[in-house]
Amino acid sequence: MFSVVANWKMNLSNSQAREYLDQFLPNLPSSSKIELIIAPPFTVIPYLTSLSQAHHIQIAAQNVHWKDQGAFTGEISPLMLRDLSCTHVIVGHSERRQYFSESNEQVAAKAQAVLSAEMLPIICIGEDLQAYKESKTREVLLSQLSMVKKLHPVWIAYEPVWSIGSGQIPSCQEINEALSTIKKELPQCRVLYGGSVNLQNLSELIKVDQNDGFLVGGLSLKPLEFSSFLHQLADS
Ligand code: PGA
Repeated sequence: MFSVVANWKMNLSNSQAREYLDQFLPNLPSSSKIELIIAPPFTVIPYLTSLSQAHHIQIAAQNVHWKDQGAFTGEISPLMLRDLSCTHVIVGHSERRQYFSESNEQVAAKAQAVLSAEMLPIICIGEDLQAYKESKTREVLLSQLSMVKKLHPVWIAYEPVWSIGSGQIPSCQEINEALSTIKKELPQCRVLYGGSVNLQNLSELIKVDQNDGFLVGGLSLKPLEFSSFLHQLADS
């Protein structure tokens, strides 16, 4: 079974999400081969929750604080997300690491807090372009994994930073090597690939045998293309 996580990032207001879902939901494949998790902005979570059961969708948040409550203006706690029926939380996305200076320690604290609230952390890791060019992918992944490898159960999303939103992806062999490295460190975790996944490269990407699914950004904002992607995956 493939797990597909749709990361909407900071896109779609409530009214835009309603228009999107009006187009997307009637075209969803019903396939036991796919588990679909949508990660909308926090503001859309309650609306999506109201539809999730009928359409077999699970809901993820895109970020979380590591404390359950307190004087942390502007933050959202794991308990608040659990209370909204979130099942998964993305932590350590490269955009959080890059623009909000999230460290490996903070990512580990967030993942632990998500587990304590009985949700599943989807921990994002991946090398930047320089590390990729210097063939240091393995080194980067091991260092990003070092603080989280005792946590269980977790999912890991391998997302090369240079691939996100760029239209470029590593070769299948490179992805397989990265996913194998991750599975060696955390033998029981599910691993997803993310970074410029689209309708054109899907047929290549499904050949990666270590891959348990996809973290999809830009493609997931186009309801009809995204549903075609899911159909293609269900038929693969
Ligand atoms: P992308 O984003 O599919 O637009 O490259 C993936 C991600 O950042 O999770």
